[in-house]
Amino acid sequence: MARITAGIATSHVPLLGVAADQNKSGDDYFAPIFSGYEWSRKWLADTLPDVIVLVYNDHASAFDMKIIPTFAIGCGESYAPADEGWGPREVPDVEGHPDLAWHIAQSLILDEFDMTIINEMDVDHGLTVPLTMLFGAPDKWPCKVIPLAVNVVTYPPPSGNRCWALGEAIARAVNSFNDDLDVQVWGTGGMSHQLQGPRAGLINREWDNMFLDGLVGTTDKLRHIPHIEYLRETGSEGIEMVMWLIMRGALGRETKALHRHYHVPCSNTAIGHMVLEPVDGTVPPSPTIEGKNAAAQAMI
Ligand code: DHB
Ligand code: FE
Repeated sequence: MARITAGIATSHVPLLGVAADQNKSGDDYFAPIFSGYEWSRKWLADTLPDVIVLVYNDHASAFDMKIIPTFAIGCGESYAPADEGWGPREVPDVEGHPDLAWHIAQSLILDEFDMTIINEMDVDHGLTVPLTMLFGAPDKWPCKVIPLAVNVVTYPPPSGNRCWALGEAIARAVNSFNDDLDVQVWGTGGMSHQLQGPRAGLINREWDNMFLDGLVGTTDKLRHIPHIEYLRETGSEGIEMVMWLIMRGALGRETKALHRHYHVPCSNTAIGHMVLEPVDGTVPPSPTIEGKNAAAQAMI
């Protein structure tokens, strides 16, 4: 059986990809940011999962105003780094896990999360920068990655509550996969940031740290934060943090923090990073599958 072994939350600031690619991670500006990932890199070397379900958002690279999926899952064999205007980053292609991805897609859709299925796409900084921060610059990424893209760019993004529930459904999907696989769920994006308009540069340390606190233990208060609070307190791009709630929901009832890092400034934002382990990974049964749609479960 597959199992979820840990969750990682991290910002995915594009400037950090540039700093890593240009060997500037030791510069005065970048050193305090990169050093906050050292503990996690060592820990990951010892606890390397077989597969990462990497929750991120595309920033008008694979999708644009022509198509805006709310939740999309990558079921392909591999994904190339996107050209975001300066040519694709020279990092390895990302290898997918089609068997697990299709199983998760089927389980989620029968659980009434209407996923978009993607077989071909390029992946931008939202996905490649977290891999760089946590694995450095290997010739090949050390495990397989299932991209899970969330629309947080064009209003309306999904609610925090829906994201948390999707995380729980991902845990049910992983737990029902027959192969013996260790799976981590990563939630990326955030923290408070606004990239344009009169409030550009907004950073809210206090709110960001309240959010980090809320990922730990048994509380589920973060799932009830409304969009308007993200907008008011964390700027127009802070809504990216709902993606962390998919990771948190997937870890089940109770979590423990193994590592926490928060630093200002990082480009126009604060960098936040946390490593979490499930303590009691129980997730509620599917309201759909366990109920009147039990016949669907039999098909999985
Ligand atoms: C920036 C861009 C992002 O996508 C993000 O999540 C954080 C910061 C930036 O351009 O600074
Ligand atoms: Fe982003």
